[in-house]
Amino acid sequence: MISNEKIISMHNEILDSQHEELFGISINLSLMNYRHINPKELKNVLRELLVMLNRHFLDEEDFMREINYPYINEHVKIHRSIILEIEEIVISEAGSIKILTEKLDRVVRDFIINHTSKEDSKIARYYEQQIKAKLI
Ligand SMILES: [Fe+2]
Ligand SMILES: [Fe+2]
Repeated sequence: MISNEKIISMHNEILDSQHEELFGISINLSLMNYRHINPKELKNVLRELLVMLNRHFLDEEDFMREINYPYINEHVKIHRSIILEIEEIVISEAGSIKILTEKLDRVVRDFIINHTSKEDSKIARYYEQQIKAKLI
């Protein structure tokens, strides 16, 4: 089960509210798995998620540039691969709801939850260190 406790603070209001929104969508998506929905409905939700993620990634990349985050290239690569994976699901011919929900679970768990708690938290920690060292 996804809980809000895992949301880390990026020390940036926009990014924090976007993370909260993304976690909200993730919770809704994982609840959807247990209901009977059709692939079209599911793909529409994924399309909405894609729009939000694209916006969020661009803002997060701006933030990394602002604070001179040294691992920005690696992080941007991960963002791009997340977008690609979700785009692939959206354009896939998969008519089976079982396959779609399995892929969806992976998107929610690996891409949104794990990415935020593991990769994004590295940006936050770097920023905290810079502030402590009064480099920013
Ligand atoms: Fe993020
Ligand atoms: Fe990120």
